[in-house]
Amino acid sequence: MSYDLLKGKRGIIFGALNEQSIAWKVAERAVEEGATITLSNTPMALRMGELDKLADKLRCQVIPADATSVDDLTNVFQQSVEILGGKIDFVLHSIGMSPNVRKKRTYDDLDYGMLDKTLDISAISFHKMIQAAKKLNAIADYGSIVALTYVASQRTFYGYNDMADAKALLESIARSFGYIYGRERNVRVNTISQSPTMTTAGSGVKGMDKLFDFADRMSPLGNASAAECADYCITLFSDLTRKVTMQNLFHDGGFSSVGMSLRAMATYEKGLDEYMDEDGNVIYG
Ligand SMILES: NC(=O)c1ccc[n+]([C@@H]2O[C@H](COP(=O)([O-])OP(=O)(O)OC[C@H]3O[C@@H](n4cnc5c(N)ncnc54)[C@H](O)[C@@H]3O)[C@@H](O)[C@H]2O)c1
Repeated sequence: MSYDLLKGKRGIIFGALNEQSIAWKVAERAVEEGATITLSNTPMALRMGELDKLADKLRCQVIPADATSVDDLTNVFQQSVEILGGKIDFVLHSIGMSPNVRKKRTYDDLDYGMLDKTLDISAISFHKMIQAAKKLNAIADYGSIVALTYVASQRTFYGYNDMADAKALLESIARSFGYIYGRERNVRVNTISQSPTMTTAGSGVKGMDKLFDFADRMSPLGNASAAECADYCITLFSDLTRKVTMQNLFHDGGFSSVGMSLRAMATYEKGLDEYMDEDGNVIYG
């Protein structure tokens, strides 16, 4: 159902890879709500061929960019302003990748070259994106910039690895840049902290299926889906949230405020055997 919340607005969606991607759902919802958009992803992601299908469906253009390249990002903003015919009203940063996670390096055995890449792709790209847009004065007054994050930025989640550090930095960038961009141009910058979601990036997290199940049992409203995340993004892009900025907003069915739930406790009671390593030592936590 459309409420015309984004009627006449122009947006850029970074990070739609396939139908499971959160950005894919956001792009669909944004157009449904009346926006015109451009899409962007890496040349490698474009070669996978899925994004063209979305672009055809939404009748929009795709602009390739590696989000770690300031030149590429600058080009995305310049081209988008031209294609869409004016300043940009909203931007979604839906980008994350950790080579350490991919290569199964544990947090106490990180490769630092890979850590640099994790931070650059998953967090510093957000700074680069906002800085490039601001230098071009490409964002309209009361524009809205949103990035997606995860609660492991603030509390430890086994297996999330160096992505936790990247997300902590991402959330900090939203606050720091949100202050400057808000003061100077009324532009909002926020992060949405989303439930575990079965996507390509999500499936890379160690024990994702169990984490997904645990979060679902712990959340009074259950996990939030990618489609529901898209709905929430739309509200932040809309004029209904013009004074919301510099926030990390939880979209997680209540998970982040729960200590222990009835459903999780019931499951826990079924197996109380201690978890031990191969030498018989009990592993706490
Ligand atoms: N899936 C989850 O459980 C979950 C939970 C909370 C937050 N998030 C966040 O949501 C965002 C979107 O992830 P998703 O779950 O939809 O997975 P996804 O794999 O569909 O999206 C990740 C995207 O990042 C892009 N990307 C990787 N390297 C890039 C680069 N150098 N330049 C530009 N783009 C690059 C990929 O091509 C892909 O489109 C990420 O920031 C992720 O951390 C995901």
